[in-house]
Amino acid sequence: MPTKLYIAFAPLQGYTDSAYRRAHHECVGGVDEYYTPFVRIEGGEVRKKDLRDTDPEANAGVPTVPQVIAKDGDEFARLCDALQGQGWGRIDLNMGCPFPMQVKAGRGSGLLQHPDHIEEIQREMLRRPEVLFSVKMRLGQESMDEGLALMPIVNDMPLVHVTLHPRLGRQQYKGVADREAFSRFYELCRHPLVYNGDIATMEDASGVQQRCSGLKGVMLGRGLLAHPWMLGDKEPAQVLQDMHATVYRHAAENLCGDSQILARLHAFWEYVDIPHKQKKAIMKAISLPRYRETVAAAMPVL
Ligand SMILES: Cc1cc2nc3c(=O)[nH]c(=O)nc-3n(C[C@H](O)[C@H](O)[C@H](O)COP(=O)(O)O)c2cc1C
Repeated sequence: MPTKLYIAFAPLQGYTDSAYRRAHHECVGGVDEYYTPFVRIEGGEVRKKDLRDTDPEANAGVPTVPQVIAKDGDEFARLCDALQGQGWGRIDLNMGCPFPMQVKAGRGSGLLQHPDHIEEIQREMLRRPEVLFSVKMRLGQESMDEGLALMPIVNDMPLVHVTLHPRLGRQQYKGVADREAFSRFYELCRHPLVYNGDIATMEDASGVQQRCSGLKGVMLGRGLLAHPWMLGDKEPAQVLQDMHATVYRHAAENLCGDSQILARLHAFWEYVDIPHKQKKAIMKAISLPRYRETVAAAMPVL
């Protein structure tokens, strides 16, 4: 009898900010942990905007894991200092972001090509036994051999689990997630393993669990953005209405100017699985009053 799967909401920069995570937790639930989009260093400083999103007050009552992206031990240490300074005792490391700017700087999936930097990070983790760490990684940047070669280092890291997205960094989000390759990593990984990639339904998640019987869990990203009601028992329209109200309020209170607010609200709808006609009308609304009208008109038919 398989044990209950751990379910994580994937970090999605621009979509799963603290308001969205709270809205989902309060309106739907069913998620064990919500990962924040990565906190990064920019212009030599830990980005203030990122730290606002990980502010414990903004995340109170929501099971949250802050994520960092770093190119070496030094950056990693500074990011951990900032998060531990906020009171966090749980940190996830991104070794999978495929965005060219990050990869070129040796971060995200670019870090997978620098085993020496990963070892620096590992030493930094060992210096912080009070923190529970995890990593989220891809198979490699250019080839799967990179990830396989890293397994001894990853196995020696003090981790609660590894989340593996079985694509290469150079693929970005093209092609399909390679579940065969995931099974190979599963055999080699000493840590509990979490599967991430292209899961659209819980039946699909059970399929992955059947392949790897000791799997810790699954991390859901775009599938949950499309069907945020998926893990609960409320009607989709009710979930959308409640979540939208929270995200709207937060955007109106925290962003400057209608165009920034509209951009955030359009992102709310971007992946949601609603009829094309309604989505198109919402996306075309270019003023807040028009947007409010369009959403109010769409709600009853969603
Ligand atoms: C727009 C966008 C933003 C993302 N931001 C992050 C991020 O900040 N940190 C991270 O680890 N992964 C990030 N990802 C990757 C997702 O967390 C996830 O690994 C990926 O979407 C595959 O899972 P899915 O098929 O369930 O969506 C992002 C993906 C997308 C499409």
